Order: sequence, then C-alpha cells, then structure tokens
Amino acid sequence: MERTFVMLKPDAVQRGLVGEIVQRFERRGLKIVAMKMVHISAEFAHKHYAVHVGKPFFEGLIQYITSGPVVALVLEGANAIDVARATMGATNPAKAAPGTVRADFALEMGRNLVHGSDGPETAVFEIGLWFGEQELVDYGRSVDAWVFE
Ligand code: RTP
Ligand code: MG
Repeated sequence: MERTFVMLKPDAVQRGLVGEIVQRFERRGLKIVAMKMVHISAEFAHKHYAVHVGKPFFEGLIQYITSGPVVALVLEGANAIDVARATMGATNPAKAAPGTVRADFALEMGRNLVHGSDGPETAVFEIGLWFGEQELVDYGRSVDAWVFE
C-alpha cells in the first residue's frame, strides 16, 4: 500500500467544495489516514513549495496557499500517488480531463483547488512536513477486501 499527501487549497474551502472533493477520493477507494484543517504561514508554505522557489509563479502561489485555511489529508491505497493525481486532473484546469476535480470545478492554474504529491519521495517529505507520526491513524476497513485484490 502506498500513501500520498493531498491538500484542499483555500479556494476549495472558501467555495464549500471540501466534502465534494474528499468524497471523490473516498469513493475511489482511497483510505483517509489523516485529515486536518490548517491556516499555514508563509514560512511553512515556502517549505512545502521549496521546489518552486525562484519560478515566476512562486510569489503568487505563496499568496494563494496562505490566503485562508486548507484541509490536509494523507490517503492510502494501491498506487495512491498516481490515482490521487489522476482524480485531481492536470495542473491547468483548462486542460484537465472531464470528470476530474480540476476540470469539473476550476478554470485557472492559480485557483486549481487541490494539491497532490508527485512521487514517492515527495509523498514521504510532504507527509512528514504536515503530520506528526501520531496523527497518522492505523486502522483497517471491513470493505478493504472489496476494494483491494
Ligand atoms: P500541486 O503541486 O499543487 O499538486 O500542482 P501540480 O503538481 O499539478 O503543479 P506544480 O507544477 O507542482 O505547481 C504547483 C502549483 O503552482 C501553481 N502554478 N502556477 N502560473 C503557472 O505557470 C503555474 N504553474 C504552477 C498551480 O497552483 C500549481 O498547482
Ligand atoms: Mg506539484
């Protein structure tokens, strides 16, 4: 089983889309292992988006991501990283496939509602940045035999 970090960005919270978006991950079969609301500082946002330091969109991205509370989650399942990103859709909502979160609810790159780890190393880094070990809840689901082979 793989774990990934997902964040519902401030626009998702402000637009009342938290339940809708979380539901899509849940229905897919991914298990919620951790979930909390946080209003992050600029300092914390710099750590989360450190790979984008110096890019032209960086300052706008920090502004956006610190503009209100976000909902942070850890999701677990087979191929959780790729599956979560596929459920989210392409970074630019205008190019995202219909049926994805970004295509169904967003229009612009800088208001694209959701973040997901882009690889195994990023997932480990982001889960460790956002959550303490004691916040990751270890539990089984009785439906798991119907979701995983
Ligand atoms: P994320 O990290 O938020 O899951 O998104 P991503 O992997 O699909 O895209 P990434 O390249 O990591 O970019 C991070 C976020 O920065 C904003 N962005 N704006 N104006 C631009 O050219 C531009 N490029 C990226 C987006 O909000 C993107 O989600
Ligand atoms: Mg990214």
